Amino acid sequence: LHVAILHGGISHERDVSLRGGRAVAEGLQAHGYATTLIDVSADIAATITEIRACTPDVVFNNLHGPLGEDGAIQGVLEWLDLPYTHCDIRTSSLAMNKAASRQIFAAAGIPIAPGRLLTPAELAAAHPFETPYVVKPVAEGSSFGVHVIKGDDAAMQRRDIASSWTYGDVLLAEAFIPGRELTVSVLGERPLTVTDIVAESAQDGFYDYHAKYAAGGSRHSLPANIPGRVFEDALRYAREAHAALGCRGATRADFRYDDSRSENALVILEVNTQPGMTPTSLLPEQAAHCGMDFPQLCDWIVQEAWG
Ligand code: DAL
Ligand code: MG
Repeated sequence: LHVAILHGGISHERDVSLRGGRAVAEGLQAHGYATTLIDVSADIAATITEIRACTPDVVFNNLHGPLGEDGAIQGVLEWLDLPYTHCDIRTSSLAMNKAASRQIFAAAGIPIAPGRLLTPAELAAAHPFETPYVVKPVAEGSSFGVHVIKGDDAAMQRRDIASSWTYGDVLLAEAFIPGRELTVSVLGERPLTVTDIVAESAQDGFYDYHAKYAAGGSRHSLPANIPGRVFEDALRYAREAHAALGCRGATRADFRYDDSRSENALVILEVNTQPGMTPTSLLPEQAAHCGMDFPQLCDWIVQEAWG
């Protein structure tokens, strides 16, 4: 099979996407596929021409963030009538929008953190929650635009963030859940395992962009050393969240786990419908733990889309 791999794009996660795309190309070649890497630029007409020119059997969508993960590129691929990996238009746009996905999780009985949507002006005026709390864009990835508001100068942080906000008209404020960051990849119906992410470099263990992608920025412990009941809940919620959103292929659900509590300790943050595929990324690591090496993972993703 000939696979066109879309990477790059114009979101903040361009660099992550480029790195992952190159890894996917190598992985698929190792598995015997012919591949064409397509760097998606601001000129979508040029991208369409490139995709058509290489007449792929399947498109591997390795884009992240706005226009790559939110249904936009999926719409282009629908128009081109080509099979493509990961989620469809509707699911991509629902999962990328944390306001929408939080409602879907809640309706499916999956616990979420207390949260509120507000405008930057409302944030400038008052704390939406007791500190510490988290302010984040409604639709971004890789922790871009995420701030933990805390400490003595919390009011100043809040006003600074509000006045320089560039991520849209509304933002999401969520209660800060202390403790640990957990993640679970799902392949089809199957949750793989739970990884406990320890951010080494970041402020207060917050898993920020640097911790995510710099060598040594974080330590991944898998399977996570957490109580069995929490482990099972994380697997189940990841599978249920994938299903509730209508996902297909590979996804990855992120959680916070407050290990100082014995009840209601786990909340879902989001489902990533385009999980990272870089050498330090979590899905490839979980797949390897389950006996599936990187080329096999790429092959599984392509076959699922092709099948
Ligand atoms: N948004 C990044 C790529 C991830 O979820 O892995
Ligand atoms: Mg994300």
